[in-house]
Amino acid sequence: MTSRSPCGTGYKGTIFYKGELTEATLLSRGEVLEVRGPAAPCDCEVCLEMGGTVALPGMVDIHVHLRGLLLSHKEDPRTGSRAALRGGVVAVADMPNTLPKVNTPENLKLKVEELGKKCLVDCYAYAGVPGSPEEVKLMSRLAVGFKVYPEDYDKLHVLEGYEGLVVVHPEHPDYVKESPEPGERAFSRSPEAEPKAMELFRSFKKVHFTHVSTPEGVRKAKDLGFSYDVTPHHLLLTNEVERRKKCKAKVNPPLRDEARRAELLELFLEDEAIVATDHAPHAIWEKELPFPECPPGFPGLETALPSLLTLYKRGVMSLEKVVKAYSELPADLLGLRLGRLESGFLASFTVVDLNSRWRVEPWEFETKAKYSPFEGMELWGEVVATVVRGKMRYFAGEFY
Ligand code: DOR
Ligand code: ZN
Repeated sequence: MTSRSPCGTGYKGTIFYKGELTEATLLSRGEVLEVRGPAAPCDCEVCLEMGGTVALPGMVDIHVHLRGLLLSHKEDPRTGSRAALRGGVVAVADMPNTLPKVNTPENLKLKVEELGKKCLVDCYAYAGVPGSPEEVKLMSRLAVGFKVYPEDYDKLHVLEGYEGLVVVHPEHPDYVKESPEPGERAFSRSPEAEPKAMELFRSFKKVHFTHVSTPEGVRKAKDLGFSYDVTPHHLLLTNEVERRKKCKAKVNPPLRDEARRAELLELFLEDEAIVATDHAPHAIWEKELPFPECPPGFPGLETALPSLLTLYKRGVMSLEKVVKAYSELPADLLGLRLGRLESGFLASFTVVDLNSRWRVEPWEFETKAKYSPFEGMELWGEVVATVVRGKMRYFAGEFY
């Protein structure tokens, strides 16, 4: 694309640029961003010019469950990507624990086709661990990485020789017991389960540990020299929320005790770590089953950025940290031209009103899963617009 090609969606105003807020003009030349000074003309098909807003690089979520196919009653890539747009997220990586499971080349192809047809943001697929190294080789062409669940720990040899990204759910089954009692899973699924599982990956070259929920886990990941991500729910909520909200706050790994939550947040603030939602929608009737039977997981795409912006507004973390954790570092991990508002990157950005405060009312969500452990909480930061590759996909409650 030359800089003479016409501009699709532009923005004029305050942008987040190289660690700080500055006045500028964003232009999209085809799918590519051009950043110019504040006086440059915004001669675009659509030019967003709204005082009081800030343009951030679009968020990148490396851990979501868009479900689809035979799990479409929980979510599908269309509703899941609408939730992403509402949350200022421009790219997601989708997990393979679906029906059918994405652990064969055929099923991976089905998954990628479905994502291609229904996604409104950039959607990437992880592959599950297949039966043989030959399949790993085939699948690595279509997948952004492989996802290892606890039930895969005894077939890690299949991944030998694969040099790409391996994302691991670290919960060692020997240290995990289910408690029927809301509030107690923080302990029955032992905090030790995380470091014990991580130890199994010592000989791997490149591993990323996802939804690390304990200080024990963070220390082990760092000790092994691997990257990790934390979720907004583990940073902000505790097992007392599980005790009160029961299934609507049931998740794996579980919400932890207050001391561990506070230490996790402290470690996260000191470190270069990623935030990912583990957006894991289930149908409401499934979440209304008795506590021991209801499935773990809840939606997160529509509350993640506002929950981080709330920490920013409270003075707990800088805006730079928000952008680094939920845009720049995850983009780098997946090797995407996202995460920075700089000329030459993809023209995917989100416009937020940092001074707007709203109450989480999950029945208003775009995801099919209209419940949340954040229900009733007041969060700062409203997503006004989300632009993906130069195209405006969301603006003020409407999707395009
Ligand atoms: O709470 C969870 N829900 N943890 C997982 O690891 C899976 C996820 C899901 O797919 O629902
Ligand atoms: Zn997950």
